[in-house]
Amino acid sequence: MSSENSLSKEDQNPAVDGSELIRFDSVTKRFGSNVVLDEMDFTVSSGKHVTLIGPSGSGKTTILRLLMTLLKPDDGTIKVAGDYLTHEERGGQLVPASENHVREVRKKIGMIFQQFNLFPNMRVLRNVTEAPVHVLGVPKEQAEERALELLEMVGLSEHVNKYPTQLSGGQQQRVAIARALAMKPQVLLMDEVTSALDPELVAGVLDVLRDIAHTTDITMLCVTHEMNFARDISDDVLMFDAGRVIESGAPEKIFSDPEHERTREFLSAVL
Ligand SMILES: Nc1ncnc2c1ncn2[C@@H]1O[C@H](COP(=O)(O)OP(=O)(O)O)[C@@H](O)[C@H]1O
Ligand SMILES: [Mg+2]
Repeated sequence: MSSENSLSKEDQNPAVDGSELIRFDSVTKRFGSNVVLDEMDFTVSSGKHVTLIGPSGSGKTTILRLLMTLLKPDDGTIKVAGDYLTHEERGGQLVPASENHVREVRKKIGMIFQQFNLFPNMRVLRNVTEAPVHVLGVPKEQAEERALELLEMVGLSEHVNKYPTQLSGGQQQRVAIARALAMKPQVLLMDEVTSALDPELVAGVLDVLRDIAHTTDITMLCVTHEMNFARDISDDVLMFDAGRVIESGAPEKIFSDPEHERTREFLSAVL
């Protein structure tokens, strides 16, 4: 894979300086009487790869959905690269953000889902160029040139003219990775991106993501049950339970010598 050519550090993420890229301040999210996140504080620094682990139902996906503005917090604020996501400052006051504001801040965030969510009626190449052309206003030719580079990076050069249904699940997920990167997000969110794949296709997708993690400075916030992958790519691992981070640290520490009984239980169940 020629990822260093096609996704240089400067190109992908110009502002890697260790500053806070994501910040949750006292974020609460409820569904009815179910308090999923309870005044949660949480930050991800620019350029870091942070992995969320923890039992099903602990609120991991909720965090990513809040960042994607697919959900709104009931309380608290979220900032992305210094800008409020669901609020804006007007006349010294914090008010709910306009749709325009949300759309602008959202451009900094890319996401890869468990179910690839490709556009079924578009060929692979157009799946990758559609948003850069129509959302960012990138000229079509330029968007195609970059899409071809990204598709080469994810190993799909031979498939650019196919439709998603003509590809395996692993190939479709690699299109989704290229599509997310084509928007040049500052942070890439990933939610169990290999869970829907046949077992023999998992390694190929994880290899691509490992390569991106190791050869670019893109910030990653990742939810995964693939503990070896998490160990390989993460700067920080956050163990989540019942809407709280109960333990966090370097992967060597969390996976080899966890402090918390709950973390030990969880890891012995999944490892
Ligand atoms: N749209 C929703 N409506 C009601 N409850 C939800 C919704 N989404 C998530 N939940 C609940 O929020 C909790 C956390 O879910 P989630 O963030 O998906 O957990 P995880 O990703 O860690 O498995 C669960 O109890 C789940 O049932
Ligand atoms: Mg989930």
